[in-house]
Amino acid sequence: MSKIRAAITGIYGYIPEDILTNKALETLVDTNDEWIKARTGIEERHILRDPEKATSYMATEAVQGLLKKTGLSPLDIDLLICASVTPDYFFPDTGTLICYNIGAKNAFAYDIQAACSGFLFSATTGAKFIESGAYKNVIVVGADKMSSITDYTDRSTCILFGDAAGAILLQPNDQGFGLQDSWMRVDGVGAEFLHMKGGGSKNPPTHETVDKKWHYLFQDGKPVFKAAVKGMAEAVNEILKRNNLSPDDIRFVVPHQANLRIIQAVADYLKFPMERVMVNIQKYGNTTSATIPLCLWEWEDQLKPGDKVILTSFGGGYTWGASLWTWAY
Ligand SMILES: CC(C)(COP(=O)(O)OP(=O)(O)OC[C@H]1O[C@@H](n2cnc3c(N)ncnc32)[C@H](O)[C@@H]1OP(=O)(O)O)[C@@H](O)C(=O)NCCC(=O)NCCS
Repeated sequence: MSKIRAAITGIYGYIPEDILTNKALETLVDTNDEWIKARTGIEERHILRDPEKATSYMATEAVQGLLKKTGLSPLDIDLLICASVTPDYFFPDTGTLICYNIGAKNAFAYDIQAACSGFLFSATTGAKFIESGAYKNVIVVGADKMSSITDYTDRSTCILFGDAAGAILLQPNDQGFGLQDSWMRVDGVGAEFLHMKGGGSKNPPTHETVDKKWHYLFQDGKPVFKAAVKGMAEAVNEILKRNNLSPDDIRFVVPHQANLRIIQAVADYLKFPMERVMVNIQKYGNTTSATIPLCLWEWEDQLKPGDKVILTSFGGGYTWGASLWTWAY
């Protein structure tokens, strides 16, 4: 019997309507459109403005769209994994809220938090449940309301992030399509450079933590930049080597969208032409767990069965890795 692989069989995304342009950011902090475009590639990002709506709202929209598109009933879902650094609550987990919203009464769910690698790690994790033969329909959704942890007085970070959600459906495939390999790593040395200090058990919320702005994301951009280039290049290289592939064999590389210069540096290092690197950071900024599924969603029409696609990410932690997929539809 041929091996059961987990194939991506559908993708959908949700992008909030409100747009925050570079020009609008000029009114909030001492920055300008030219600097932001030149240093990051970002032109605008979308923000979920409604204070009543949180990450689960965007994720629910993405998953509902995915169900409609694939014709799957919520009752058919076995497992839903939500990747996020901005869950609605510490608990209950966002995955459970999404399942409740869509009526996925036969599913179990949980969240994975691995910063910007959350989607990559979750997709591999979800795939293992399919490969084991235990489950038939696994949804992985990456969703982040980054605006909820962004300090709009800090020009070095507020220009970078946006809000969005993206979801994929994983189903069994015995024709060789689907997840072929994944390589993932973490290194806690990165905690110093990219973190949110307050709110957890180390620094529970107090007036002081609020005054010190510890409930916002903190980033020291330079070391993160360097580590991101090195990490994603290493991960993609590792995947190519392990699978005896050259860049010519890969239809698309799908990198986490943190900074256009990081993406270009990774492509340069790998000698991979930018025409086959998915880039949409100019429209959405860094949406953390949603960047990779949003790219796949946007490029879906250009993919055909048998295409080899490498996903790669780098994020806080540090967390990083890559996975190789053979496209199934
Ligand atoms: C944040 C980032 C865009 C900053 O770009 P950079 O080229 O490293 O810029 P620097 O931090 O060296 O800052 C250069 C100058 O621009 C200034 N600057 C920073 N943000 C600015 C802004 N929004 N507008 C104008 N000037 C800005 C700095 O204050 C600094 O001025 P100085 O030289 O007078 O001190 C970049 O470091 C980055 O993208 N880092 C990694 C981000 C990332 O990948 N994060 C998520 C990981 S998943």
